[in-house]
Amino acid sequence: MTEKSPLVFPRGFVWGAATAAYQVEGAAKADGRGESIWDRFSHTEGKTLNGDTGDIACDHYHRFADDVALMKDMGLDAYRFSISWPRIIPNGRGAINWLGLDYYDRLVDALLSVGIQPYATLYHWDLPQSLQHIGGWTNRDVTGYFADYAAVMAKRLGDRVKNWMTINEPWVVAVLGNLTGEHAPGLRDKSTAIKVGHHLLVGHAKAMEAIKSCTPDAKVGITLSLSPVEAETEHEDDQRIAEHRYQLSAGLFLNPLFTGAYPTECYKEFGDAISVIQPGDMALIAKRMDFLGVQYYFRVVTGRRGDVNKVNGSKYTEMGWEVCPSALERLLVRMNDDFDLPPIFITENGAAFDDKVSDDGFVHDPERIEYFQEHLHAVFRAMKQHVHVKGYFAWSFLDNFEWQHGYSKRFGLVHVDYSTQKRIMKDSGKWYSRVARRGELEF
Ligand code: FCB
Repeated sequence: MTEKSPLVFPRGFVWGAATAAYQVEGAAKADGRGESIWDRFSHTEGKTLNGDTGDIACDHYHRFADDVALMKDMGLDAYRFSISWPRIIPNGRGAINWLGLDYYDRLVDALLSVGIQPYATLYHWDLPQSLQHIGGWTNRDVTGYFADYAAVMAKRLGDRVKNWMTINEPWVVAVLGNLTGEHAPGLRDKSTAIKVGHHLLVGHAKAMEAIKSCTPDAKVGITLSLSPVEAETEHEDDQRIAEHRYQLSAGLFLNPLFTGAYPTECYKEFGDAISVIQPGDMALIAKRMDFLGVQYYFRVVTGRRGDVNKVNGSKYTEMGWEVCPSALERLLVRMNDDFDLPPIFITENGAAFDDKVSDDGFVHDPERIEYFQEHLHAVFRAMKQHVHVKGYFAWSFLDNFEWQHGYSKRFGLVHVDYSTQKRIMKDSGKWYSRVARRGELEF
């Protein structure tokens, strides 16, 4: 890369890193935690690589104080973590587990004591298993139980946690969990996926109301996984196919949240499942959020020949995901043109590479540094085009349990040796730390 002058981000831009409860906490049976659908799924033969589970993960539940000290060393402004619903309400509804609440209390206090702002996600995929027994997110009652849980959290932490994310990536929950079955609960049914998707949005809206009624000064948003879908060629058929796919994936959540209606393509695709929408739902879903969380990993390239698995000249990560930072810029600019958006946080962005601890005891991961550098550059270019981005959270703070891939994919700024739980800050962690401290991106 040629020498360029540093890019200076606005003062107050939030530099953070993210994790999720099931991926890092471990302590699956500690202090009265209930079972989640991810416990059940990962303990079912053949569902995760090598039968890996989140039973122990990074043992963040017991080691959070050391991890927070590392975050402080890195100079992070903010930590995005998720709260495990079955730690708080083991059966998803009813009795509260006070020991679970105490844990998040301790975590939040530890963060604030070193000047790191907590950003809490309420649902990062670990539905209490008891609620799956009554139909999971296909059961509309679950949206109410979710709002009750949100209220419990806001009452307990709302004096200190000012930024809340309701649902993480509803597309992934609906589609990977209920259509392709790669994720918990492992179902494969289109009408189930559609119901789940809609109820996640209703749940988001009810939870937002619940948080705001307990703590009016709270800022609340949702986080969406957004892959721009780009056509393989300029040919109008390829363009049409790509646009259709974009509407059925990104539009499926962006449109209801920002226009109060699903894209017309979706109404055609939904068939009978559309009856899940009840009067008043769309207005509720479209209630103004304080921010939108954008999570970007890769784009989709498609056309008449189907999806392009390998784009000539592109690099790919260990996940098999194309590295395409310019697509993030295009996505942000397009969204900003299409909708009247609230401020955006990039709540996840990152890459898995095959990291190794080298003989010198360090982890040299130049590809990840380049990945972050190029994606932050793309965010910066979008900001120059009037997209209001308030912060960026690297995925992930720690290497962790990457869902169906178990521990085989490493996304962390910090390396974890799962046999000893030793943490080593990777070169990318040191690099990100300099960026976060200075608020500048160097080349
Ligand atoms: C996102 C998830 C996150 C992590 C990254 C790689 O879809 O939100 O938990 O698995 O992908």
